[in-house]
Amino acid sequence: MLHELDVSGERFAVRDEGRGPPLLLVHGFPFDRTMWDAVVPALAPHARILAPDLRGFGGSIVSDGSVGMARMADDLAGILDALHVAEPLTYVGFSMGGYVGWPFLQRHGRRLAALVAIDTRAAADTPEGAAGRLAMADRVLAEGSAVAADAMLPRLLAPDRVRRDPEVVRRVRELMLRADPRGIAAAQRGMAARPDSRGLLAALRLPTLVLCGEHDVISTRDEMRALAAAVPGSRFVQVRDAGHLTPVEQPGAVSAALLEFLALPGPARG
Ligand code: MLT
Repeated sequence: MLHELDVSGERFAVRDEGRGPPLLLVHGFPFDRTMWDAVVPALAPHARILAPDLRGFGGSIVSDGSVGMARMADDLAGILDALHVAEPLTYVGFSMGGYVGWPFLQRHGRRLAALVAIDTRAAADTPEGAAGRLAMADRVLAEGSAVAADAMLPRLLAPDRVRRDPEVVRRVRELMLRADPRGIAAAQRGMAARPDSRGLLAALRLPTLVLCGEHDVISTRDEMRALAAAVPGSRFVQVRDAGHLTPVEQPGAVSAALLEFLALPGPARG
């Protein structure tokens, strides 16, 4: 079902499916909760799937200016309170959703039972990267969401996906085009300002899965392997024939990896 929650006077949309241990699926940029649509059916028989729209995206409130990762993390805690989710949960963060996971860990760590980092980074942007985001934020506000979609699309998918799977490409582009330019700009500014979180990794004592698409050029497999190596006892999974958008390109591999990591029954285990 879809909840439209009032959290301290602000609207947040959250998909809530299934029963069992809670899994919080946190989407990337500039997407919304529907990027998980193909992953949810395999998980919902075994777990409670909560897939919110972050501030600025989907059916949630849009704020102007800059929306930092810590603010999004606090929004998630407010959503969990509104849904009365007190049980420790598995935080599954894809890309920007992973950036939000680091402040969530710092500020709301007692809510966590496990962590899954998908095609994401712990490092901050380079100065050039941050400057590019700020320029993009201004352009999107002036010209619309297509600016972001056109800039990002060539870097999101596995090589040759455009030819092999035009339907996936069409859906990804449509998803980006429907994002509100103000939400895109505010998240870009927030991501540009995010701190380096690599210092948190060595002290992480949660079961952690690090998963990446073999062809990711945004959060590369080398960087993700280094992230995994920095977290004691973590597991690293590389997904074949996926670029950055692994949950959209290979939803079956992502749900199977999640079920296995969480020791829940799944297709691969019978
Ligand atoms: C995402 O998928 O969330 C973005 O690629 C993150 C980013 O722009 O760094």
